[in-house]
Amino acid sequence: MDFHKVTEINGTVKVPGDKSISHRAVMLGSIAKGTTEITGFLQGADCLSTISCFRKMGIDIVNDMDTVTVKGKGIHGLCVPSGVLDAGNSGTTTRLISGILAGQNFTSILTGDNSIQKRPMDRIITPLRMMGAHISGRNGTMYAPLTINGHCLKGIDYTSPVASAQVKSCILLAGLYADGCTSVTEPSLSRNHTELMLSAFGADVRTEGLKASVSGVSELHGQSVHVPGDISSAAYFIAAGMIAQKGQVLIENVGINPTRDGIIKVCLEMGGNLTILNKRLAGGEPVADILVRPSSLHGTVIEGGIIPTLIDEIPVIAVLAAYADGDTIIRDAAELKVKESNRIDTVVTNLTKMGASVQATEDGMIIHGGKALHGAVLDTYMDHRIAMSFAVASLNADGTTVLNDAEIVNISYPDFYSDLKRLSLS
Ligand code: S3P
Repeated sequence: MDFHKVTEINGTVKVPGDKSISHRAVMLGSIAKGTTEITGFLQGADCLSTISCFRKMGIDIVNDMDTVTVKGKGIHGLCVPSGVLDAGNSGTTTRLISGILAGQNFTSILTGDNSIQKRPMDRIITPLRMMGAHISGRNGTMYAPLTINGHCLKGIDYTSPVASAQVKSCILLAGLYADGCTSVTEPSLSRNHTELMLSAFGADVRTEGLKASVSGVSELHGQSVHVPGDISSAAYFIAAGMIAQKGQVLIENVGINPTRDGIIKVCLEMGGNLTILNKRLAGGEPVADILVRPSSLHGTVIEGGIIPTLIDEIPVIAVLAAYADGDTIIRDAAELKVKESNRIDTVVTNLTKMGASVQATEDGMIIHGGKALHGAVLDTYMDHRIAMSFAVASLNADGTTVLNDAEIVNISYPDFYSDLKRLSLS
């Protein structure tokens, strides 16, 4: 797909529902008693993979696009899967479902696409085995396909070596099926949607600083879940509006949970012209509209506890940094290497092809901003966030940018290119 420089980004956009919250709503709805109605559900391939896995375990899920209705069968209501469970490209599906499957009294096989089969699963296999689960992966304990023999679980007090909401959520979901209390302590706080939603569905969840705990439950109760717009998708329009020469963008109904809002803090720190409007609570999550105007940006240092709150936005932050004056240093972000692509390598390769000065480091990158960017032929590496980040990079680059495998945006934002085109004037 071809992209060209634009003169103006202008208009209003409503980004699709939050991916993390959409997954969790289907999962908890499936193991709750009664009906769960989800509005604002993300109709992206990743979340559709989660629906298909639970359908294979006998859950009736009606997806009429506006509303997804999950007819939950209770905490012990899942049936033996009708085949291999396929998580597609979705790390969240794979890791969170594994926690639920570990507590079932049947055997399941869970796999995904080529990318999923290369992503580390030992980070969930180790704690699940400590809880008593019988689970194994390919190459010992590293990779999917996973075979999970459901078993009686016991609560553990686990210190996670990584700040990962997927790891934390996997353990907490297994904890629903375990005797006693299950706790996870993280090195820095990752997104807390599982804790918030578990509590809304009636689980006994406690959080204290970096520790989240849950007790085994006898039943969860179906709920209405309103999914806010995904700040990770809004990030592309925040970036586009800031690097544009003219115009303004209003992004409506964006989830601004403090465990996800690092992108806003970093943009403000870089001199971004952002205004947060109409802050409100929707379905237990904070939501706002974000007004973005062209900005004169400068470099910054991004490190430490803020990293998990913007981990998925680092590719587009790197693009902003290339358009900013001065250096931006990103560190403590080695997790980027185990995402849908190795995002340190893929971001550095693509920015370099566009004429930016950027170096990869062990746990991040250094971007020497302020050089004019030019179009180039770029790979998306079948990574949706790389595709969207470099579509944004093209908006202020001279010449033509060609993105290979651009359709990978279907994973999290099927209408991304049409929304971007609607706001772009050339
Ligand atoms: C997610 C957690 C993050 C994030 C992913 C979604 C979630 O992964 O990158 O896109 O929904 O829990 P990690 O937990 O591996 O950091």
